[in-house]
Amino acid sequence: MKKVIESMKKLFEGIYSDGKGIYTQSIVPGNRVYGEKIVSEKGAEYREWNPFHSKYCAAIKNGLEKSIFFEGAKVLYLGSAEGTSVSHVSDIVGDRGFVFGVDISETAMQKLIDLSEIRHNIFPIIGDAEQPDEYAPFIEEKVDILFQDVSQRNQAEIFVKNARFLKKGGFGALTLKTKSISQSKKMKDILSEEKKKLAESFEVTQVVSLEPFEASHYLILVKKK
Ligand SMILES: C[S@@+](CC[C@H](N)C(=O)[O-])C[C@H]1O[C@@H](n2cnc3c(N)ncnc32)[C@H](O)[C@@H]1O
Repeated sequence: MKKVIESMKKLFEGIYSDGKGIYTQSIVPGNRVYGEKIVSEKGAEYREWNPFHSKYCAAIKNGLEKSIFFEGAKVLYLGSAEGTSVSHVSDIVGDRGFVFGVDISETAMQKLIDLSEIRHNIFPIIGDAEQPDEYAPFIEEKVDILFQDVSQRNQAEIFVKNARFLKKGGFGALTLKTKSISQSKKMKDILSEEKKKLAESFEVTQVVSLEPFEASHYLILVKKK
């Protein structure tokens, strides 16, 4: 049974607020990942989640209705970078869950590997999310959650290619950076075109604008058909 701090109100499973900031409860007390604020009391430790550094946290700030992450979940996270957001997902899924973190950048991957030595539920994979066959051998069972944050022009296509790893009925989310697709088209028009690309494999459950935390970004929440 996890110890809890009374001043922390639960927003979603594994996600808390002290009335101002958003927090996850650290599975590695005493360890800061990116200079984040830590609140601790009576053996329980919470790490502040910064909406300017993490798009999922920005979505929580902007009215996310249902969180996709839960304790014990198996997650495939595409575009893990150095692991800023992955570290919070690692807190939420806990020791019974795990996060495969895929990134194409060797520099980012080195930091994620260092993080995985401290957080044992992170499995770093260097790979191109456009070539899922490259990392398919590591993912032996289908995952509960597919998350993607790769800021590429063909973001929706990449997400659809990776749908094969997600369980039927499993939840997912992808960030959509509209400026990566077109500088001139309206954000809403780009969003409807991208939603159409997702429609065959996914039901869109919510779309959250990430402004002002991330300009020209949406988070699209989905459920696999
Ligand atoms: C915006 S950053 C991700 C930030 C991270 N999600 C976080 O919140 O901490 C985008 C990442 O996607 C990675 N990326 C871009 N294209 C990729 C691809 N085709 N396959 C895998 N990773 C890719 C980049 O190397 C970069 O680290």
